[in-house]
Amino acid sequence: MAPLTTASRALARSVAAAATRRTTSPTTPTTAVAALSTSAARLDTGSTYQSPFVVESKASKLPDWSKYMSKNSAGRNQVFSYFMVGTMGAISAAGAKSTVQEFLVNMSASADVLAMAKVEVDLESIPEGKNVIIKWRGKPVFIRHRTQEEIEEANKVEISSLRDPQPDSDRVKKPEWLVMLGVCTHLGCVPIGEAGDFGGWFCPCHGSHYDISGRIRKGPAPLNLEIPQYEFPEEGKLVIG
Ligand code: FES
Repeated sequence: MAPLTTASRALARSVAAAATRRTTSPTTPTTAVAALSTSAARLDTGSTYQSPFVVESKASKLPDWSKYMSKNSAGRNQVFSYFMVGTMGAISAAGAKSTVQEFLVNMSASADVLAMAKVEVDLESIPEGKNVIIKWRGKPVFIRHRTQEEIEEANKVEISSLRDPQPDSDRVKKPEWLVMLGVCTHLGCVPIGEAGDFGGWFCPCHGSHYDISGRIRKGPAPLNLEIPQYEFPEEGKLVIG
């Protein structure tokens, strides 16, 4: 029982000492709190951890755009946006139209080329029963001043018997004037006038025979001689093209 008695005595002494300190020193609790605060402050300042969410970076900081923001209402800004879009669209369309127009004007034929595209022929100089060959757009054109007998001969042919059925009236504007391209429809040779088995034109390249209306009657050519565009602007004048 001796150790227990010793411990009891020590406990009683410490309780008595504490009671004495409380009665003799009223500032002791404040001192203890200050000591505790100092200890806690020492713990805070001693930490090396830094949160990534509280550190401010210049790169992640948004600039202030408020001075660039419009002072107008949203509706007024929309009207302005539509106006600008419409205006820019109209200007772009006008520019595109002008560019295309200039391109087409440059690509079109010049006045001198257009003048050469038409050829005027004085028919008074071609006697009846004669052929004339002129050059039009690089191709020969046959002009035949047909006689009355030749016109009748061209009209009495049975159309259904022709390889390229075409009445003579469809090939002439005036029966006495036969105007057609002098290019064989087989491979493009130039036929010879007043020759062949049908009194019209004959192509010596492979033996095609055309009649007095320029229709294919014999040989390898598949089609009649082609009729170009032409007109009679006045009596005695022929314009081809
Ligand atoms: S090119 Fe005329 S018959 Fe062949």
